[in-house]
Amino acid sequence: MSSTNNLVWRRRVNVLKSHVNGRLQDAEKPTISLNDVSAQKEARTELRMLENEDYDKGFLLILSQLATVGDVSKDMFKKRMEHMKNTQNTYFTVVVEDLDKKKIIATASLIVELKFAHGCSKVGHIEDVVVDETYRGYKLGKRVIEELKSIATKQGCYKTILDCSEKNVPFYQSCGFVKKELQMRFDNPHE
Ligand SMILES: CC(C)(COP(=O)(O)OP(=O)(O)OC[C@H]1O[C@@H](n2cnc3c(N)ncnc32)[C@H](O)[C@@H]1OP(=O)(O)O)[C@@H](O)C(=O)NCCC(=O)NCCS
Repeated sequence: MSSTNNLVWRRRVNVLKSHVNGRLQDAEKPTISLNDVSAQKEARTELRMLENEDYDKGFLLILSQLATVGDVSKDMFKKRMEHMKNTQNTYFTVVVEDLDKKKIIATASLIVELKFAHGCSKVGHIEDVVVDETYRGYKLGKRVIEELKSIATKQGCYKTILDCSEKNVPFYQSCGFVKKELQMRFDNPHE
């Protein structure tokens, strides 16, 4: 086994050995456990809902690994958080924090859409899924998606959908999603 393979193998073993308790603070505050490890060492991690303090823990930095974030001040961030919280049972952003580094290392969001169709049903939309590049491959992506699927179920969504690039299809398939239809897009000419 090459030294690189050996390192990867040892990390995989550490993933299996690492049992770290996490806390999720959704509306019902259930206790959940999170099994994972950081890219560098066994990390103490916590899976929970996004909170105001995460502005200083690199939440926007990790988001910028997926999309252009632009200048978002702490005040703008807090106002957006407040708006989302006040729009009850609609916006759910989960994060994973590396507790030793006080750093956000993974995030994903669920938006619950109210429909008239299907007897006034609800549909979940998953957005902004990203794992810090140094922590990829340790099941953090899968963990945040599983959490959002669970919240969508509790919220009564009859399905949960998302858009992704072709290269991420295997990841979402491993999370239980299937390919269906395609995305259409209109870019606002003023944006
Ligand atoms: C896509 C992303 C979120 C995956 O997160 P991750 O923590 O590295 O993935 P996980 O370790 O949880 O992988 C879960 C499963 O998906 C598989 N997987 C992950 N990325 C994959 C890829 N690019 N190709 C094939 N399989 C992949 C893993 O092998 C694993 O499979 P298994 O459960 O059968 O062993 C992460 O790579 C990322 O942040 N990418 C950049 C941002 C991005 O593209 N986000 C998605 C926007 S739609």
